[in-house]
Amino acid sequence: MKKIAIALSLLVSLVGTVNATGNAEAGKNKAAMCTACHGSDGNSLIDMYPKLAGQHADYIVKQLSDFKSGARKDPIMMGMAAALSPQDMADIGAYYQSMQVTEGTSTEESVRLAQDLYRGGDMERKIAACIACHGPRGNGSGLAKFPKISNQHASYLVAQLKKFRSGERANDPQSMMGDTAAKLTDSEITALANYLGGLH
Ligand code: HEC
Ligand code: HEC
Repeated sequence: MKKIAIALSLLVSLVGTVNATGNAEAGKNKAAMCTACHGSDGNSLIDMYPKLAGQHADYIVKQLSDFKSGARKDPIMMGMAAALSPQDMADIGAYYQSMQVTEGTSTEESVRLAQDLYRGGDMERKIAACIACHGPRGNGSGLAKFPKISNQHASYLVAQLKKFRSGERANDPQSMMGDTAAKLTDSEITALANYLGGLH
């Protein structure tokens, strides 16, 4: 009985998260006002603004609805998302997913400092391996809404890891990221962020 109940609740939660189907062509027009910060092709030129090109559509939709509801807080993005409908979010997500992300690089030092942590975590300190959710190449998973984190700007990644660590960003299901980031030191965060650029 218990197993059936779990299976049913899983099914309900899966069905419950089915999004409106996105249309990339429509999304391109709707994203016109986003280009100022996120770049004309989804590759922002300023490294505090995340690249959106190649990001999973479902993850983008989740973030936009989290900004709209206030579950994820950012003064700029909460304003930008306020007027978007679920259909707008789906179209914008489809559009950015279809764009090509520009490649980043990893510094040699960051590979030395961060690769083991990324691949294996730290058993003693109970830090989960990033690879378990974000994958060997940092591509995440569209279905699970694990974001693609490779090729992303290091400054943006540092800011997000610190926000997860402090609890300022807490829109991650089951505190998956909060629990992980809570145990990271500043230098580990910097090393991880610089490592992820070249992980593709
Ligand atoms: C004035 C600059 C600016 C504009 C315009 C802007 N954004 Fe953003 N966007 C940001 C910043 C800054 C962040 C990071 C916020 C944070 O620290 O959490 C962000 C984050 C995001 C994220 C989260 C990305 C991730 O990897 O989690 C998405 C999705 C996004 N923006 C989509 C959009 C869309 C769609 C539009 C247009 C409707 C838009 N943005 C317009 C500055 C902007
Ligand atoms: C148990 C799964 C899991 C593990 C392990 C995990 N993450 Fe995440 N990560 C997530 C999820 C889920 C999100 C998106 C949360 C949300 O919905 O906003 C995320 C988001 C992120 C983001 C924000 C991306 C963006 O575009 O804003 C970064 C950066 C990140 N993770 C890095 C890491 C690093 C580095 C590690 C290892 C130290 C790690 N993650 C371990 C599940 C995980």
